[in-house]
Amino acid sequence: DHTHADTLRTPIVAVLGHVDHGKTSLLDTIRGSAVSEGEAGAITQHIGATDIPLDTISGMAGELIDPSDFDLPGLLFIDTPGHHSFSTLRARGGALADIAVLVVDVNDGFQPQTEEAIDILRRTGTPFVVAANKVDTTPGWNPQDGEPIQKSMDAQSERAKSMLDENLYEIIGQLSDAGFSADLYWRVQDFQKNIGVVPLSALTGEGVPDLLTVLMGLSQRFMKEEMAIDVQGPGEGTVLEVKDERGFGATVDTVVYDGVIRNGDQIVVGGQNEPIVTEVRALLRPRPLAEIRTEKEFEKVGEIGAAAGVKIAAPDLDQAMAGAPVRVVRDRTVDEVVEEVKAE
Ligand code: GTP
Ligand code: MG
Repeated sequence: DHTHADTLRTPIVAVLGHVDHGKTSLLDTIRGSAVSEGEAGAITQHIGATDIPLDTISGMAGELIDPSDFDLPGLLFIDTPGHHSFSTLRARGGALADIAVLVVDVNDGFQPQTEEAIDILRRTGTPFVVAANKVDTTPGWNPQDGEPIQKSMDAQSERAKSMLDENLYEIIGQLSDAGFSADLYWRVQDFQKNIGVVPLSALTGEGVPDLLTVLMGLSQRFMKEEMAIDVQGPGEGTVLEVKDERGFGATVDTVVYDGVIRNGDQIVVGGQNEPIVTEVRALLRPRPLAEIRTEKEFEKVGEIGAAAGVKIAAPDLDQAMAGAPVRVVRDRTVDEVVEEVKAE
């Protein structure tokens, strides 16, 4: 019911995987945009965040989802770079995640940063599903744009199907070598014990309805307790990037993962030398479905609750650091919060 939905926060879904395996393309398909085409050298170099509302998810998932089964507001997707030199950003994305999507190119299988991502997920104990991406590159593939994967499989020749199966079982074997029992997602009974593998294509969108359905189901079933937060509590977040914004000076793009941040709040932000104590001058929210990294038309809001991406404008943020904590002071003393930020 609706009143309940207001007290559950949006789950944070990190998208991890080897370079070029299709993380940003997958998010492009879900948000209906083209962020990956605009990237320098075609690789992602920062962490991104995009809020996908439940009605968009149920619209894409079509017959697979009944939105009345869910009382979570949607999913906040975190895009991470796959290039080997950005391991800090992958670890940061993994640390923010409630659940994760491990994107694996179905032809390439496990690669070094796939292994690295798995290590992060194992370390943080984050539940995940595997998106076996690029099924459309299977020789002889007959694309079924935006369709559920079962329907798409039914439209393939025996030869294409068996080539894809071979690649999928290779990935399931690699997951097993990494210590995870896994199977094609429709065969998984207990997603806490087994990793579900979802064959899909970010290019054609086939299988994407299945991925969204599995993510919503996982969040709803296993994480509802963790999502029930004190929505009025002091906001807590992590800085993704420090950026100059015209008219505001240095701002911090932040993922808020707990509580609420309000305009005018006193906040403490981790800095290069010491924590910065400042006051929120503006909260700038990207539009739904917009990637905070590339958004141009932010909306000024009075407050923003977890989980969400928000650009925070406040004085003295030029020494703020990517990866640093952001804490609202509210009913504690500034010193307490400064000590907490120093300890992180
Ligand atoms: P990094 O962020 O640099 O790690 O890469 P990424 O994982 O975000 O990969 P990206 O989405 O940038 O895609 C890399 C390339 O693969 C691009 O040329 C995409 O068009 C292509 N690609 C991604 N998904 C698919 C797919 O499902 N099918 C096909 N045929 N190509 C795809
Ligand atoms: Mg990318």
